[in-house]
Amino acid sequence: ARKHKVCVIGSGNWGTTVAKLVAENTGEHPELFERDVQMWVYEEQVELDGQKHKLTEVINTRHENVKYLGGITLPPNVIANPSLQDTVKDASIIIFNFPHEFISNICKQLQGHVLPYARGISCIKGVTVTDDKIELICEYIGETLGIYCGALSGANIASEIANEEWCETTIAYNVPEGDVQTATTTTTTTTTTTTNGTSSPATNGTAKTPPSKTTLVPVPQTYVPLDHTTISSLFSRPYFTVSMVSDVVGVSLGGALKNIVALACGFVEGNGWNQTAKTAVMRRGMLEIIAFARAFFPDAIDPKTLWEESAGWGDMIVSCTSARNWRYSKMAVERGVSVQEIERTELNGQKLQGISTTREVASFLRAKGVEEQYPLFMAVDGILDQKVKVEDIPKLFRK
Ligand code: NAD
Ligand code: 13P
Repeated sequence: ARKHKVCVIGSGNWGTTVAKLVAENTGEHPELFERDVQMWVYEEQVELDGQKHKLTEVINTRHENVKYLGGITLPPNVIANPSLQDTVKDASIIIFNFPHEFISNICKQLQGHVLPYARGISCIKGVTVTDDKIELICEYIGETLGIYCGALSGANIASEIANEEWCETTIAYNVPEGDVQTATTTTTTTTTTTTNGTSSPATNGTAKTPPSKTTLVPVPQTYVPLDHTTISSLFSRPYFTVSMVSDVVGVSLGGALKNIVALACGFVEGNGWNQTAKTAVMRRGMLEIIAFARAFFPDAIDPKTLWEESAGWGDMIVSCTSARNWRYSKMAVERGVSVQEIERTELNGQKLQGISTTREVASFLRAKGVEEQYPLFMAVDGILDQKVKVEDIPKLFRK
């Protein structure tokens, strides 16, 4: 059967880490995948040994992304590519992994250049909002490119996974009808695939994929079947355990909205409060995530995902105790400057997704006229605007 060609769009801290792990797998599974993984790099100059170099050239010669994942050797089959169109050429599996604010610009440039039957996996944590309309990133990709796109999200700190420290993740993927001859997975079936590729029924099989507005071109039958087992083989590593589910909404919203809560936790801790205050914020934050998902994706969410999967409480806990949004919002309060200022001065080009996600979600809630039902989300927006004080958070919850 024809092998899948895999590419990664994005090469930040997580983009490069995911390129590394999938390239390890394409190297180990020549029966399923072509060996080389093209990785699109937003080209920039980096200074090395006193001289300026193109980042793509540095990655392809040193096999290290010195700017976004320094100190980690990449497999030689990760090929940095500055051209978006060339990166996706002939790729049947496209992994999207860049800060969500660049989604519309990147998708515009990809339109008309992806295979009509390509399939996507979005590792991006965020949402897209226009006025009173909200969309999951994977839905947006699917609609603008006319392909099906699933979502990967979990309690995943890139630097730890790049160092091959064990963790787990969740991939939501509904095999489109017609992609595999005897489809074992439908829009309502869930399987859990372990690292060794065995599948078993999973518990959260009630979620439905939002109806696609696009008519999908099936993956030709000449290819290796593109099902849960193949996708799991692409991402699972001995240090990266994958759980396959069907709840695209739960996986996507868990990853996007916890970044707002992580900012709140950083604010509270930076203010000198302790773990109990932070726990209250996490609990309230999760309730707002569940309420949000039920209100705006009522037929699609499976609440079990948020309780049971890495993409739910798992991601909430790690994000509020050790990830960037928490770390740098805490630093901002400690230094008495804005988080936006800290992002500019301390992150060396990396992005805090919580800032734009808070903005987008707050503007969406205002457009819907329901902001008072989400006091924590709105408080974070107010703190970013310096209109709300961190000390005022407890008052928001007084009855
Ligand atoms: P990052 O914050 O490390 O890097 C920023 C990236 O944006 C760089 O690759 C840079 O080249 C690129 N960029 C800058 N300007 C651009 C432009 N105008 N157009 C396109 N690209 C531009 O990125 P990351 O950590 O790889 O994050 C990607 C996604 O993965 C995010 O949604 C994030 O929430 C998610 N994520 C990150 C981690 C993590 O630990 N880093 C873990 C899980 C999920
Ligand atoms: P940060 O972007 O805040 O580092 O979060 C990474 C993450 O998503 C942890 O699961």
